[in-house]
Amino acid sequence: MINVQKVLSNSELFSGLSVNSLSRVEGRLKPASFARNVVICREGDDGDSMYIIVSGLVTVSSDMGWGQRELARKGPGEVFGEMALISNDVRSATVRAVEDTECLELDRAGFDDLLDGDPALAQRIAKIMTRRFSTLVHRTSTELLGAYRALTFALANLTESRDPETGAHLERTRHYCVLLAELLSEDDRYRDQITDEFIDGLFQAAPLHDIGKVAIPDAILFKPGGLIEGEFERMKSHTSIGATMMERVIRQSGADLFRIAYKICLYHHERWDGTGYPTGIAGTDIPLEARIMAIADVYDALRSRRVYKDSIDESASIDLLKGGIGTQFDPEIAAVMIEHIGRFEEIYLTYQDEKTGGA
Ligand SMILES: [Fe+2]
Ligand SMILES: [Fe+2]
Repeated sequence: MINVQKVLSNSELFSGLSVNSLSRVEGRLKPASFARNVVICREGDDGDSMYIIVSGLVTVSSDMGWGQRELARKGPGEVFGEMALISNDVRSATVRAVEDTECLELDRAGFDDLLDGDPALAQRIAKIMTRRFSTLVHRTSTELLGAYRALTFALANLTESRDPETGAHLERTRHYCVLLAELLSEDDRYRDQITDEFIDGLFQAAPLHDIGKVAIPDAILFKPGGLIEGEFERMKSHTSIGATMMERVIRQSGADLFRIAYKICLYHHERWDGTGYPTGIAGTDIPLEARIMAIADVYDALRSRRVYKDSIDESASIDLLKGGIGTQFDPEIAAVMIEHIGRFEEIYLTYQDEKTGGA
């Protein structure tokens, strides 16, 4: 003999209700038996009942696009099918009996009657729904953000397969950029622009700076020695090609990350004095993200051993940075980098790999 009140008071949905409320629920329940392997609810069907498991075991699974994924197993005292009933929507999952399973079924009419007559039950359901919804939103947004970041870095690593530049270079430059941005943000003049979102976007977007190189032919990209005029022009187009790629992404997703990536791709070879490429803009017309990227990229190229040159040591690299102040680099950003050069060196030494390559 099933002790229905005990089953109800052990279930998430009905625990904590008064004896009167439980009796009212009990009066509406009907026994339902399902043999092993029977599908009790099917994803996409109308949800017109919920079930409380008295004995047995069920699996809850969902179609992920690539196949069924088991989300949960439920046993005695647990409830399923309530989401569709509460939200008046179709089933969001398929429930199958793993063993012969005994349930108590509550249909829509009974459920609506109970809700109308029992504010405590209505309140309890509202609490459960809020808790589930916020857990779901948190989990979904964390998963999405992780996937989005991993995909962005995987995309950036495409340049590694098309260019001798290394993954370690991408790691180092993103860390130099963040450090520069953090140091600059201590200055009142930058505080409004360099927010936490700006820094996070810069960290995610920096590895995409040379993504346009995927479209440069091997004969140019891997050519030993100098490039001739037409080849150099073609090589320079990696900036606008990368920007066009980012523009397409922005059309699909307005995320700030890609707006920052667009500016970095297009302007990271511009120079403070206006003699850079591809547009020749100068000074603060060059977006801050790109001015930061430009010096981070050059510093790493100086310090790294490449196929055509040895590594340039720290003090010679500083001299070269100083030589570029006001011509190649934003004087304020260069000054901050030189002042804290030890911290950039730490990053350089932290992220190393076996491969070395060209800028
Ligand atoms: Fe570049
Ligand atoms: Fe680079």
